[in-house]
Amino acid sequence: MSKIENYWADDVEVLIDTQTLDDRISALGQEITKDYGGLEPPICLVGILKGSFLFMADLARAIERHVTCEFIAISSYGDSTESSGIVQITRDLTESIEGKDVLIVEDIVDTGLTMSYLLENFRTRKPRSVKICSLLVKPENAQRAVDVDYIGFTIPNKFVVGYGLDYHAGRYRNLPFVGVYCGQEI
Ligand code: IMP
Ligand code: MG
Repeated sequence: MSKIENYWADDVEVLIDTQTLDDRISALGQEITKDYGGLEPPICLVGILKGSFLFMADLARAIERHVTCEFIAISSYGDSTESSGIVQITRDLTESIEGKDVLIVEDIVDTGLTMSYLLENFRTRKPRSVKICSLLVKPENAQRAVDVDYIGFTIPNKFVVGYGLDYHAGRYRNLPFVGVYCGQEI
């Protein structure tokens, strides 16, 4: 393969390939479909931007019942690889979640700071229920105990990119797999 087709190969090692992601997300979709039962009321999927955008798109298509798709943008990191612990809503929901069954769709739960902040924030908005679906969890790095209802993969404490996850101000989000970033620190 020519270099241009593998522009990421010097800096990223594949951890979870595209087929494995697809299979696991199909299974998560089936589990969620079964757990919620019936077609109504719609599950209010809340994707956390930007990292969850690809997972949200694939998970929504794997759920065989009504859902609505909402997004909230949160920043907890700045552009570094260490969690700052400072969580900020940079773009809020545009619909009320009062009385709804909310399923938060996240790319990764790392320290848990973002998710515990968001859970607390959401509870004040009086949803009927709140569950969490995270593609990845890194339990070794947890600073807050967060109960993740649906987990795609449990991974070691390595910095990962791809399938929505970025490094260096947005790079690598578009990789169709999850990989460990092993390039230079920028
Ligand atoms: P937490 O607040 O430490 O749980 O971090 C949550 C957020 O940090 C995630 O939504 C990601 O945006 C980001 N994050 C944590 N670990 C990684 C990683 O390994 N790669 C890319 N982003 C990460
Ligand atoms: Mg995120």
